[in-house]
Amino acid sequence: METTVEKATGLLEEASALVNERLESLLPDPDEAPTRLHKAIRHSVFAGGKRFRPALMIAVGRAFGTERDRLLSTAAAIEMVHAYSLIHDDLPAMDDDSLRRGKPTCHVEFGEATAILAGDLLQTLAFRAIADDDSLSPEVRVRLVSELAGAAGSPSGMVAGQQLDLDAEGAPETISEEELERIHLCKTGAMIRVSAICGAIIAEAGEEELETVAEFASHLGLIFQITDDLLDVTETTETLGKTAGKDAEAQKATYPSVFGVHEARNMAMGHYWRANEALGRLSVPTSDLQELVEFIMMRDK
Ligand code: IPE
Ligand code: IPE
Ligand code: MG
Ligand code: MG
Ligand code: MG
Repeated sequence: METTVEKATGLLEEASALVNERLESLLPDPDEAPTRLHKAIRHSVFAGGKRFRPALMIAVGRAFGTERDRLLSTAAAIEMVHAYSLIHDDLPAMDDDSLRRGKPTCHVEFGEATAILAGDLLQTLAFRAIADDDSLSPEVRVRLVSELAGAAGSPSGMVAGQQLDLDAEGAPETISEEELERIHLCKTGAMIRVSAICGAIIAEAGEEELETVAEFASHLGLIFQITDDLLDVTETTETLGKTAGKDAEAQKATYPSVFGVHEARNMAMGHYWRANEALGRLSVPTSDLQELVEFIMMRDK
């Protein structure tokens, strides 16, 4: 019998194949000028990556009964914003990382200026992919654009979280539990939450179901970043495909640095129960979503 992890891996592989094909058609030709920029975005987007956000979006959309094809441009757009966030996160002015997805980071391979522009370009391509998706009504497209802009931006999205993360660097012992939760909800939770919400919007789920999906995905987002923090402490660079131990070196405010590894695991478990409790309130089949939650709890990279 297939284990939960095998099932989740299957969902991620399927999402990966589908979204990679859509990304291929949405990204500019690498041989078209400016080739350095177009090669840089492909270097980062196609370096691997779990494709967790597209998988989540597809799983939610499918649970609410929409066709897979209508989900793919928005899933690709979310992955583009995610890739942009990683390129900028790795810059010397931010986390200063040289390895990502097992490959040299964008700025190491192409230089800092191109890496900044690569992030900028991925962000604009993402919004265009949604605006141009004629399988969706204009009203749905506008709503998706608005949700994604909020999740990527500030005051409660990824960019806000990245600023708060940098502000908290160097003094993890002074941060409160509420402040740390806010950082994680913004920098990582918002993009995971919007992945789930976009799936539900495209599937035309009712507003009450949408609220429950958002609640579920917020807990999932926290589990995701707490696990990311734990893996930075417990795993090797080789397994992660990014440099292990960087959070301690940079004195980042993380769950293990503030509460210790044991308590951080307990806190992830608390969000695991709350995520499952929210799933239990949905009226649609949730087994794929449950498998994705299990995967995030048990992942090693
Ligand atoms: C890494 O995200 C950055 C965080 C938000 C923790 P992922 O762990 O999803 O990275 P990839 O996409 O698999 O490389
Ligand atoms: C990054 O968090 C969240 C983003 C918005 C990219 P981290 O800085 O912990 O992500 P990694 O560990 O570099 O992937
Ligand atoms: Mg960071
Ligand atoms: Mg980082
Ligand atoms: Mg990290």
